[in-house]
Amino acid sequence: MAAFRLFLFFFFLLFYLQPSRSHESCHPGCDLLVPIHFPFQMMSNPPENRCGYGGFTVTCKNETRNILTFPFSGDFVIDSISYFSQRISITDPCNCIARRLLQGFNYSDTPFQPLDTRNFTFLNCTSDAPVFQSPGGVSPIPCLSSESHSFVALPTERVGASNTSSCTEAVTFMHPSLDDSIKDSILLTWKEPDCGRCESDGGFCQYKYDTSSEVSCFTPFDH
Ligand SMILES: *[C@@H]1O[C@H](CO)[C@@H](O)[C@H](O)[C@H]1NC(C)=O
Ligand SMILES: *[C@@H]1O[C@H](CO)[C@@H](O)[C@H](O)[C@H]1NC(C)=O
Ligand SMILES: *[C@@H]1O[C@H](CO)[C@@H](O)[C@H](O)[C@H]1NC(C)=O
Ligand SMILES: *[C@@H]1O[C@H](CO)[C@@H](O)[C@H](O)[C@H]1NC(C)=O
Ligand SMILES: *[C@@H]1O[C@H](CO)[C@@H](O)[C@H](O)[C@H]1NC(C)=O
Repeated sequence: MAAFRLFLFFFFLLFYLQPSRSHESCHPGCDLLVPIHFPFQMMSNPPENRCGYGGFTVTCKNETRNILTFPFSGDFVIDSISYFSQRISITDPCNCIARRLLQGFNYSDTPFQPLDTRNFTFLNCTSDAPVFQSPGGVSPIPCLSSESHSFVALPTERVGASNTSSCTEAVTFMHPSLDDSIKDSILLTWKEPDCGRCESDGGFCQYKYDTSSEVSCFTPFDH
């Protein structure tokens, strides 16, 4: 029995010590529901701690939200991260994803990309336009619409089949999903570093050596 306890003690010691020195000194982010860890890292971590991978740097806003900044599209709030499936869901800090897409969502120079894209056309309609009427009516985008004008976005290939009388076509933009309508968040994926398998096996990724960019998987059972 004593031997078994000793075993347990060392087992847990091993388990807790396994995350290397640097892993322990990495800030977990400012939204406890969305823990930040490798390949993501907080901007506040000193570079020598090597907490994350290039392009995965997160900042804090209002001490409650993790923010990811896209060089050409600005700030988005991180809604959730799936380290297993290597997917991230982001939202607009002002809760109007449609406005951000309309401005042209550009994910160049980031490690992230949409799973798929589709062209959407943005229409400016009167609130009683046939496009809003059932059957098959669509809903106006609340954060952009006013009393006098309602805005709607349709997959471009569907515009021809819709009754767009009382609407004017504004612009065509890239929608980062195959959905028929604009949702509250944008789902993106990343390919490198490939740590999904490691995470689903109960491990975590980290830099292999103090200097190289090589990543390897650590599990509680290593060594
Ligand atoms: C931060 O808080 C201020 C005041 O409460 C608010 O006006 C602002 O929109 C917030 N910013 C974000 C990114 O949530
Ligand atoms: C994103 O913006 C940059 C700078 O304007 C441009 O070079 C790049 O082609 C854009 N990428 C996409 C996918 O539109
Ligand atoms: C979207 O439109 C652009 C420009 O018209 C076109 O090059 C592109 O292939 C379209 N994308 C899709 C997914 O249909
Ligand atoms: C929408 O259309 C109305 C009338 O056609 C116009 O007055 C208004 O400025 C338009 N709004 C936008 C954002 O294009
Ligand atoms: C579109 O809706 C208007 C107003 O309800 C109607 O007069 C018109 O016939 C409709 N057009 C088509 C092509 O269904």
